[in-house]
Formats: sequence, C-alpha cells, structure tokens
Amino acid sequence: MSTVAPPPDAVPSWCAGPYADALRAGRGPLFLRRTDGWLLPLDVERWCAAPDPADLSALRRCAEPVLDIGCGPGRLVAALAALGRRALGIDVSEAAVLHTLALGGTALRRSVFETLPGEGRWGTALLMDGNIGIGGDPAALLARVAELLAPRGLLIAETAPVDIDERVRVHLDDGRGLADPGEAFPWARIGTPALIGHARAAGWQVADQWSADGRRFVALRRRDPHEEAEGRAARAVPDAQRARATADRPTAHSPAAHTPKAHSPAAHTPAVHTAAAHTPTPRHPRPAPSSRPDRDADRAADHARTANHSAEPANSAAVTSSQRVRNTSAGSAVDRS
Ligand SMILES: C[S@@+](CC[C@H](N)C(=O)[O-])C[C@H]1O[C@@H](n2cnc3c(N)ncnc32)[C@H](O)[C@@H]1O
Repeated sequence: MSTVAPPPDAVPSWCAGPYADALRAGRGPLFLRRTDGWLLPLDVERWCAAPDPADLSALRRCAEPVLDIGCGPGRLVAALAALGRRALGIDVSEAAVLHTLALGGTALRRSVFETLPGEGRWGTALLMDGNIGIGGDPAALLARVAELLAPRGLLIAETAPVDIDERVRVHLDDGRGLADPGEAFPWARIGTPALIGHARAAGWQVADQWSADGRRFVALRRRDPHEEAEGRAARAVPDAQRARATADRPTAHSPAAHTPKAHSPAAHTPAVHTAAAHTPTPRHPRPAPSSRPDRDADRAADHARTANHSAEPANSAAVTSSQRVRNTSAGSAVDRS
C-alpha cells in the first residue's frame, strides 16, 4: 500500500489532478496536451481493462522477473501475477499503485530514476503504452533500464505507431477544464526506427519487433561484450589462418604443395561461458523492506537472482516463425499469434 510521499523527482501532474481522477473513474477523456495545443489522447479505458491481444503479445515474450515501469492501473502486473509469474509494477502515481494492488498485483510508488529493488537482476523491463516517453529523454531512460536489467535481460518497449522522434512539453488535460492540469513536463514520442537507432548507439541489439492491433513493439537486449569479443576473436582466427596459408602457399616446386597443413582444433574451439560471467551483482544497496509491496518487491527481486538469463525470452518458443509475418520493407513484423 502506498502511503509515502510522491517520489522526489516525480512529475506532480501524474500524481494527482486529471490523471488520478481518470484512474479512479476508470475512464477518460484524458489527453497529453502539447504546449502548441495539439492533443494526444490517452487510452485510460484500455489501461483499466483486462490485457488485450496486443498486451498479451508482449507478455508472452517476457522473461521473469518482470518490472513494469510506469505500470499505471496495473493490468499487466496483475495478469502476470494471475499466471503465477513474478512481476513488480512501479509508478509515481498513488492512484495507479493503489489500483494495481487492488487488482492483486505488486506495485511500489517509485520513480524509475530512484533506487529500485533488484537493480541489475530483472529479466524483463516493460515500457508500455508510450512509456518510453517518461522523462522526455529516451537515451537517459534506456541507460537507466540498462542498469535495472540482468545482463541478458529484455526491454520490451511500445513505440509510437508513426515514425516520429520528438521531445515535447505536455500537460495532462481532461479536455473539459475540470481539473487543474498542473505544470508542463517533458515527454517523448518515438517510433520504432528512431528507438532502434538510439538503442543501437547505446549498445543494445534488437531481439524482436512486431505489431499487433495497430500497436508497435520492440524487444531490445544489451549487446554482450563477451560474445562481441569472442565474435571478433573468431573472425580474427580465419584471417590469421588465411594470412598463414598465403605465406605458406606451396609453389609447383615445393614439397609443401602435397603436404596439407593440419588446422589447430584450438582455432575452432569456442571459449566456454562460465555461469559467473552472467551472475548479476546488485549495483545499489537495496532499501529495507517497510511495507507489503516492498517485501513483495524484494521477493520478486530475490527471484531475479535465479532468473533465467537465457538468450531467448522464456515463452518465445510459443511464437512460431509462421505466426510472425516479416515485413522487411517496413522493418517490422505482424504478430498473428
Ligand atoms: C502513459 S501512462 C501509461 C500507463 C500504463 N502503462 C498503463 O498500463 O496504464 C504513463 C505512466 O507512467 C507513470 N510515470 C510517469 N513518470 C514516471 C516515472 N518517472 N517513474 C515511474 N512511473 C512514471 C505515470 O504515473 C503513468 O501511470
């Protein structure tokens, strides 16, 4: 139960006013209003309903434990919990956290930029419903998520349905002038190509991308420095062999022409990954448990220590290649599952 003050860096507009009113009512209208007056509708009814097929297409790809960043009223955290999967929601809005707890999910009233339980050990971080816009600086948010995830953890981000890369200042607005919209705050809207561009530049690789019900998603994973080093080494070995073969190339007069050189098996023996190489260590001291969500969160974080750090999300096998129809020209995939 969240009874604590708003997180220090929380945007007050998310903590009260039209957003809190809409969550309590379970419906909008609610908009992000740009300073130039342009309105971006927020889908409060969908957020307060059960997960839809597009949500499920993301949940199926999650590896446990799951951290839902900006969980809102908590439909995803609650759905994961109902499936017996370890998940924690965090949100700066008290109304959002209370709603999530009421649905049976676990949630903490925290900003993503504050110290969180299980740092460096989460199997999946979710940034759904445009939450890649939190803070108005996707590069800073990507860097923060990288700190939260286990080394091979997955970030699943929902991107804007149009190819856009904009930083804006917005107000929350009920469209009726009923509630004080509060201060303007920074937000970002970013489409799939732009997110992938930012992510690649910051050391991420694309694990998957798809669309469902007109919504777009990208799954990202940190590039593994060990694999990269091994890849470079593996590429270097044939180069060295080629160089040697050129130097040793027999001439018609040389006996070596008929003496094939034995290749060293060592050249083809991949280095063995030790489990220790993937053992996450906490990067920040964990806060002392103080309330039920904190304890549950700590438990979810503890599970993170034993999380499956495999290269694929736990349930990715459930999505067959025939179910995903690649659209290479658009650089996206349609999820028909
Ligand atoms: C666009 S809404 C998305 C709602 C949500 N994903 C859902 O399922 O309803 C953005 C959410 O992020 C939360 N939020 C905004 N800034 C945040 C921050 N710095 N850390 C955590 N949550 C934040 C807001 O309170 C809000 O619930």
